[in-house]
Amino acid sequence: MEKQNVSLRGKDILALKDFSAEEIRLVLDTAKEMKQIIHRDIKKVPTLRGKSIVTLFYEPSTRTRTSFELAGKYLGADVVNITSGTSSIVKGESLRDTLYTVSAMGVDAIVMRSKAEGAAEYASRVVDPVIINAGDGAHAHPSQGLLNLFTIEEHKGHLAGLKVAIIGDVLHSRVARSDMYAMRTMGMEVHIAGPKTLLPRFLYEEPGIIVHERIEDAIKDADVIEVLRIQLERMKGGLFPTTREYARIFGLNPERLKLAKDDVLVLHPGPMNKGWEISPFVAYSDNSAIQEEVQNGVAVRMALFTLVLTGGKAE
Ligand code: CP
Repeated sequence: MEKQNVSLRGKDILALKDFSAEEIRLVLDTAKEMKQIIHRDIKKVPTLRGKSIVTLFYEPSTRTRTSFELAGKYLGADVVNITSGTSSIVKGESLRDTLYTVSAMGVDAIVMRSKAEGAAEYASRVVDPVIINAGDGAHAHPSQGLLNLFTIEEHKGHLAGLKVAIIGDVLHSRVARSDMYAMRTMGMEVHIAGPKTLLPRFLYEEPGIIVHERIEDAIKDADVIEVLRIQLERMKGGLFPTTREYARIFGLNPERLKLAKDDVLVLHPGPMNKGWEISPFVAYSDNSAIQEEVQNGVAVRMALFTLVLTGGKAE
């Protein structure tokens, strides 16, 4: 795949639906080089020396916020974290004014997480720094989608032609929306299953997305299974009877795992509700790459910073 003419320099990273296969390939290849830096004894290169990055998180996060912070620091950037509970946001400062304030300090990139769908896209229109969407409501979580692809490719050696089953609460899942578009773009066969109440209508009209009512049909002979978190905090009530019932019908347990290929790779964006959408036996089995996803998250975020802020590669 040609990549000479592809550049992400200055591009706001808002949603993978907008990404071409060449752009995704550029990120994955760059992340491969970045991963070598994480394995060095001294994890520090000067690629982003003199650049400053702010992470602006209006929702809780462990993996995404920490890995963006470490990614920036490993590349030599100055990184400052702002969370809604410890900033002037608690005094009622608006998103626009917060963005103006942060931009006025001369930052080069803002990594944003928000409950509001479209918040990152809005930020990209009102301020100059590059905006990286770290999750906006149920809309998109592009760096999570990219780290999933990276993890799959590390294990399988390729992406095109692989069967992936995405299981669970798609309705509230920005991860599913990022994964399914990027996986389709990269030539994967995308199957989805979950309770009907948690499968948005648009899925049935998406070309290249196959929707199943039963998890068993989706995971049969799958190369990859992505289990989604049940997002109780976003549910307005009554979308499935009980978590026990959910586990019985849609949970990924060892019995169901046998329906997939022997070397099926199991992914979950975290945090996991173990015993609900995924059994602990599956989560910690040899098929699981859930912890690897976390490490790969740092490499992919290093790649994104390098590509959007310099267009090039780390030393
Ligand atoms: N996968 C993910 O977004 O996790 P956090 O909410 O911990 O960042």
